[in-house]
Amino acid sequence: MSDKAQKYEGKNITVYFERGRCIHSRKCVLGLPHVFKANVPGPWIDPDAANADELAALISQCPSGALRYERNDNGAEETKPEINTATMEVDGPLNIHADFTLNGEPASSCRASLCRCGASNNKPYCDGSHKDLGFSDPGLANSGNMDSALEAGMLDVQALPDGPLLANGPLEIRDSAGQAIGRGKKAALCRCGASNNKPYCDGSHVAAGFKTE
Ligand code: SF4
Ligand code: FES
Repeated sequence: MSDKAQKYEGKNITVYFERGRCIHSRKCVLGLPHVFKANVPGPWIDPDAANADELAALISQCPSGALRYERNDNGAEETKPEINTATMEVDGPLNIHADFTLNGEPASSCRASLCRCGASNNKPYCDGSHKDLGFSDPGLANSGNMDSALEAGMLDVQALPDGPLLANGPLEIRDSAGQAIGRGKKAALCRCGASNNKPYCDGSHVAAGFKTE
């Protein structure tokens, strides 16, 4: 577990929250408001305030992976998706749902929102900076390479210094409407915000002077 995560231990389920990765989709506070208490001082998650299965199901919908859980009651842990996907969010990040490693390390969960505007202070993760930047992208693209026989398997994502996200391994890329626009085993995905061929890198990061450190 990442030491950046806050731990909320309950009887049947323990919840971990990584604040720097929350993209404020609000699925948690709207879905189970008696567990996830918005705008309270101090601890804001009460894992014992809901049925553990119900809480686990909701956490599995947190797109950013800011929330994850461990069961203390032998209940089912989160299952990895059958196929790996990367979905563009309108004016926002790239949401990964996959069995994957990030920069060579096993991901803390199968969900992660990765910055694609270039402005995050928590790269490669999204930290919500796209809103301050006014990043504008509808997350739509023409269909490209489609490997119809995409199988399951591990995905490795490398955030290249001053450059794109390099995805190695089976991956389906989806537009903001959830439609597949690309399927294959290798992709370079823009994370500087400047590409004219989003979600793919077109080399514009060089002219844009994109720096990751
Ligand atoms: S990203 Fe996750 S933790 Fe943040 S508001 Fe949405 S569901 Fe809650
Ligand atoms: S990372 Fe954006 S164009 Fe290459």
